[in-house]
Amino acid sequence: MSLKTIFSGMRPTGKLHLGHLVGALQNWVALQKEYRCIFSIVDWHALMGEYEDSSHIKENIFEMAVDWMACGIDPERSIVFVQSDVPEHLELYMTFSCFTPLGWLERNPTYKEQLREIQTRDLHTYGFLGYPVLQAADILLYKANAVPIGEDQLPHIELTREIARKFNHLYKKEVFEDCQAILTQTPRLLGLDGRKMSKSYDNAINLSDPLPVIEKKISSMITDPQRIKLSDPGHPDVCNVFSYYKVFDPSQVQDVCAWCTKAQKGCTECKKILARAIIRELEPIQQKRQEIAANPDKVQAVLALGAKKAKAIAEKTMQEVRQQIFR
Ligand code: TRP
Ligand code: SF4
Repeated sequence: MSLKTIFSGMRPTGKLHLGHLVGALQNWVALQKEYRCIFSIVDWHALMGEYEDSSHIKENIFEMAVDWMACGIDPERSIVFVQSDVPEHLELYMTFSCFTPLGWLERNPTYKEQLREIQTRDLHTYGFLGYPVLQAADILLYKANAVPIGEDQLPHIELTREIARKFNHLYKKEVFEDCQAILTQTPRLLGLDGRKMSKSYDNAINLSDPLPVIEKKISSMITDPQRIKLSDPGHPDVCNVFSYYKVFDPSQVQDVCAWCTKAQKGCTECKKILARAIIRELEPIQQKRQEIAANPDKVQAVLALGAKKAKAIAEKTMQEVRQQIFR
């Protein structure tokens, strides 16, 4: 039996943060052991949102490749490539565009939310509406069985399934199978201020932050607002620091709960201990990051080889697709 295929992608829009690490990358790293994994740096998707200023995309692609490998994505095991190196993505995207109803895209909750939330860029474009169609093409080009993603992406997977079914129905062959979403088990990490962790909110701890910066960022975290003096007992359940403990130092969760509710330790000390746990996790990643980044030619070679492997699969799918349509 052949291995099941996993596909996932990330937009190269800036530095990776802890949310990417625990929400996606750690999951991807684990999946490599059991599946044939294909991971793409989706630069066309980045352009769909940031077409006004594309000047950082190239640099972000390099940084993303380095971050991925430093976190344990292994290009000997998995295919790692840049979306625009395999133009078949665009060909399949165009194919799907012909029959994807506008209604499916206009109803998409992720799309509606982004139009509402993002005020600094004009996203009322043809391309941005079609964002999930390109995502469907990414996934189906490799006939992926499963897609590790965040919860916010579930509507896009549902749409991918609908597109696959519609293709099979129109062109009378089961070219594409249903794909499944794989959600991460780790509880979601919020940003330093308690909102969603995001570069645009400036509330993230980046994987590449120098260790003193990490300490400083953690010390700025908002804690239980009712705990003003050291002698006030705290409520870990409403404290974001506590939720970080659950992710980065689960063995210490009971102790934290005790020292907090019994007012034995203050928040400053509690945060210092957390910072140490996070630094313990990030230090080896940063070291590996430096080694990898010192050899940019090698990184480019990894991406070139990845593109070659991806293209071989993509070409086969496109031949099948063209044959079914233009019989
Ligand atoms: N839309 C995804 C995100 O913003 C990125 C992405 C593009 C993706 N193509 C994909 C994820 C294919 C999974 C599979 O997170
Ligand atoms: Fe949060 Fe720790 Fe302060 Fe309790 S002691 S409120 S868990 S920072």
